[in-house]
Amino acid sequence: MNKYVAPVDFIQHKRDGGEHAGGELRAFINDYMAGKVADYQMSAWLMAVWHRGLTLDETLALTDALLASGRRLDLSGLGRRVVDKHSTGGVGDKVSMVLGPLVADCGAIFGKMSGRGLGHTGGTVDKLESIPGFHTSIDSAAFKQQLGEIGICIAGQSADLAPADNRLYALRDVTATVDSNPLIAASILSKKLAGGAGAVVMDVKVGAGSFFKTRGHAHGVSHLMREVGKRRGIEVEVIMTSMEQPLGHAVGNTLEVLEVVQTLKGNGPDDLVDVVVALATRLLTLSDLGWSPEQAEKEARRRLSAGSAMGKFNQWIEYQGGDTRFIDDPGALAAAPHREMVRAQGSGWVESIDALAIGRTALSLGAGRRRREDKIDHSVGLLLRAKVGDRLEPGSELAEVHAADAGAGRDAAAAVAAAYRISASQVEPASVLLD
Ligand code: URA
Repeated sequence: MNKYVAPVDFIQHKRDGGEHAGGELRAFINDYMAGKVADYQMSAWLMAVWHRGLTLDETLALTDALLASGRRLDLSGLGRRVVDKHSTGGVGDKVSMVLGPLVADCGAIFGKMSGRGLGHTGGTVDKLESIPGFHTSIDSAAFKQQLGEIGICIAGQSADLAPADNRLYALRDVTATVDSNPLIAASILSKKLAGGAGAVVMDVKVGAGSFFKTRGHAHGVSHLMREVGKRRGIEVEVIMTSMEQPLGHAVGNTLEVLEVVQTLKGNGPDDLVDVVVALATRLLTLSDLGWSPEQAEKEARRRLSAGSAMGKFNQWIEYQGGDTRFIDDPGALAAAPHREMVRAQGSGWVESIDALAIGRTALSLGAGRRRREDKIDHSVGLLLRAKVGDRLEPGSELAEVHAADAGAGRDAAAAVAAAYRISASQVEPASVLLD
C-alpha cells in the first residue's frame, strides 16, 4: 500500500485538484480510524472533496476503505439472494414498511438495515419503534436467522458495519459536506455491501423536501451508484421519485405506521402505492424468483389491493417483538393529546405543498430530532387531508395537526397553512414517478 507523507500533504493535494492513489486513500481512512488523523483534518479533506470531487477510481477506493473499516455480513448460507432497498430520505416516506412485507409475501427475501432520522426527514427505525415492544437491535446471527425463517427483517444499522462511514457522516453533517455525489455514493454503497444483499434498489428523491433539489443532481449520483455497484458485485437499480410534496397523507411516526396498515389493507394513497409498486417491481425482478417485470408488477399490485401482504406484516411485527393489536385497533398506539384542524380560507385547487416546510413543522412538533441525542415523540405529526390537485372550498380541511399541547398545535397549524399554495385555476397532479 502506498503511504502519503503527512495528512496535511494529502489534504493539500486534493485542495489543489490532484488525484489520490487508491492505497493512499485507504491509508488516510485507516489512519483516521486509528486516531492518527484528527477530525479537523478529515473535515478539511471532506471540504476539499466537496469542491474538487473524486474520480471513479477514487470513489471505489473510498468505498472499499469504508467497507474494510468493519465487518461484512455473509448471507450466502441462506442459499437465497437477499434484496434490499434504500431511500435518500424524504418527508412522509414510509415505503420500506409496506414494500418489505409485500415482496416477502411474494416469496423474495427482504433484508434491510435502516438508519434513524435526523433533521426534517424521518427514519424507518424511529417509525417502527412507535409500535410497543418492537425492537430493531438485531445482531447478524439473528438477522440471518430471521431472514431464513420469515423472509423479512428490518434492523437498525449495525455499528460494526462500515463504522468509518458512521464517523465520516457525523462530520459531514456538521461541516456542510453531505451533498457531494462521490461521498454519498461511497457512503451508501459501503453500507449496502457490508449488509450482504445481492441487489439493491435505490429510491432517489428529488425536490424541495429532499437532498437533491434537481433531477440533474439526482441523475449524477444515480449513475455513480450504479457504476460503483457494478464494479463491486452488487446489482444497483435506481428509481427517481418526486419529493415536491410529502408522500401519502401522514407525516410523523405513529401516524405513518397507521397509514402503512391502511396501505397494506388495500386503502393506500395513490402516490404511496405508485412508489411501492415501482420499487417492488424492480426488487422482485432482481430477486431469485425468476419473475419478469410484467409478472412482478401485476403480482405486487394485486397483493396490495387485495390486502394479502397483511399476514406477512403481522408475522414480521410479531417476530420483532411488536404488539400487533394496532393492526385492527389504531387506538392501541399512543395518540397525541391535542388536535387542530387547518382549513382553507378561500376556494381553488392545491397547487403545491412545501415538503421541506412540512418536514420542519413535524420536527418542531417533536416528531424528529435536531441532534442525535434528542428524544422523539412518536405520537405527534400531521395528517395532510388535501394534496396537490384537490379542489378546495372555504373551510375545506387542509391538514390535521397532532400535537403535545395547544400552543405547539397553534404554531404548527400556522406553519402548515403557509406551506400550502392555492391556485385559482385547476391543477393536475404530476406523477410521483420521475424516471
Ligand atoms: N445517506 C447515506 O447513508 N449517506 C449519505 O452520504 C447520504 C445519504
